Amino acid sequence: MTQQNKRLRSVVKGVGSALPQRCVSNRELEQTVDTSDEWIVQRTGIKQRYIAGEGETTSTLGAAAARAALAKAECAAEDIDLIICATSTPDYTFPSSATMIQAELGITKGVAFDLQAVCAGFVFAVATADKFLISGSHKRALVIGSETFSRILDWQDRTTCVLFGDGAGAIVLEAQESEAPEGSESDRGVLTSHLRSDGRHRAKLYVDGGPSTTQTAGHLRMEGKEVFRFAVGHVTDVMRDAFAATGVTADDLDWFVPHQANRRIIDASAQKLGIAPEKVVTTVQYHGNTSAASIPLALAVACEDGRIKRGDLVMIEAIGGGFTWGAAIIRW
Ligand code: COA
Repeated sequence: MTQQNKRLRSVVKGVGSALPQRCVSNRELEQTVDTSDEWIVQRTGIKQRYIAGEGETTSTLGAAAARAALAKAECAAEDIDLIICATSTPDYTFPSSATMIQAELGITKGVAFDLQAVCAGFVFAVATADKFLISGSHKRALVIGSETFSRILDWQDRTTCVLFGDGAGAIVLEAQESEAPEGSESDRGVLTSHLRSDGRHRAKLYVDGGPSTTQTAGHLRMEGKEVFRFAVGHVTDVMRDAFAATGVTADDLDWFVPHQANRRIIDASAQKLGIAPEKVVTTVQYHGNTSAASIPLALAVACEDGRIKRGDLVMIEAIGGGFTWGAAIIRW
């Protein structure tokens, strides 16, 4: 009977993050872009963002975040056999940033690959790593979100360039056998994940270049109002699916850690689901929208300041270009 109840769970062992050296305030942006601190704060909640300088790339930031996560997890790099790097801004078209990070960490075994689901990339990467780990094929994963969106922004376009920033976050997930009753406080790990995509919305948020079309990296383009409408109107479906799959309710959650694109989207989504404002982790004011890096950066802040603790129920959620969107519930 006990044997039957044994299951593998992907348990979070550590979280780490890394930011570029240069922090750019809204006031500093006012010097080069026709915008104002007041407009940016009122529409988005963003007060500053970090911008990568020379020598700082998606793989260097990703490797630094990975090192920090390994240290928190007290895990040696050679014990990692799976690396997934969620990014839309890789150092090169290929090889993947994940393999560059793997080499930087001195890891020569296992598998490393990039995953591209834009701002939903980290949720997609957690869901993917979880499926590898609970299948028993791999033991310990580094799940990284790392971006340098500053390098695909059109700095003449004030409707987009003020919104984004650079950075990286990472978690170590370990496959652990659990005999705890399902849903109990000792049943730790990724409890459920739900992913969606709908390619009909491509034109609302995209990059206008790529190797197979323009042979350039291109620039980010966005219909901000349309993205806003979709994010608030539709994305709650995956969160409802996550609640239904686990029996967890909004009241049971200790923390809601959504993609950090915009304070108004975060607040509206939480309100729609009945999640109390004090349970919402918001870091968009410090980092801007760092795409796939935003959730692990927020997790790192909330773990570091002691909010997220072992045993807490945490929901992550994101939407990105495509559109792509997803949610997961994790018992920390
Ligand atoms: N500074 C000052 N004014 C700006 C500006 C800026 N950086 N960007 C746009 N404006 C102006 C516009 O030109 C417009 O002026 P007008 O009325 O004279 O034409 C005015 O501000 C309002 O623009 P609008 O686009 O209607 O603003 P909005 O209320 O929709 O807010 C966003 C714009 C981008 C903040 C909002 O649509 C949004 O948050 N969308 C979601 C974006 C997002 O999160 N994307 C990532 C998802 S992964």
